[in-house]
Amino acid sequence: MKRFLTMFALVAVGALPALAEEKQEVPVDPVTGMKVAEGWELVRVHCTVCHSPQQFLQQKGTQSTWTDIIRWMQKSGGLWQFDADTESKIIAYLADNYGPDGAFRRAPIPGSLLPENPYMTGAKAEFEAKKKAGEVPVEAP
Ligand code: HEC
Repeated sequence: MKRFLTMFALVAVGALPALAEEKQEVPVDPVTGMKVAEGWELVRVHCTVCHSPQQFLQQKGTQSTWTDIIRWMQKSGGLWQFDADTESKIIAYLADNYGPDGAFRRAPIPGSLLPENPYMTGAKAEFEAKKKAGEVPVEAP
């Protein structure tokens, strides 16, 4: 019996870190589906103007990948320039919360090597509809 209790105690203690980890899970904003972590409101303000957050919440990238995505959109999607501080906060949020995980099989193709996409994408369609409705500003909101 004593041995059983010792075993039980060991198993219970072993499970503690897992419980603690679960508690630390980042809360999700019910409206946008974005993780509520440092910098999230800045990203919401800048990155949900032209398309829904779904366009980036399903992506995963390192700081370098996210930087490339932003450059690509500045070149082809009408995204405005950021000051250095704002940009680094946005990229930190994206890489920290939507970074590569175990499901990553190869490094993403650098944005500078991505060809222009001739097909309609969800993001493009959303952007064009919003632009038509006059909802896309030319400068940062
Ligand atoms: C001024 C408008 C505009 C803003 C603001 C904007 N985007 Fe985009 N974004 C676009 C357009 C247009 C596309 C589609 C481009 C295409 O497919 O050719 C796009 C596509 C994307 C895609 C690719 C989605 C896919 O097809 O898989 C991601 C990821 C993305 N945006 C992330 C962001 C992030 C992160 C921000 C904030 C820093 C942001 N966007 C802000 C216009 C914008």
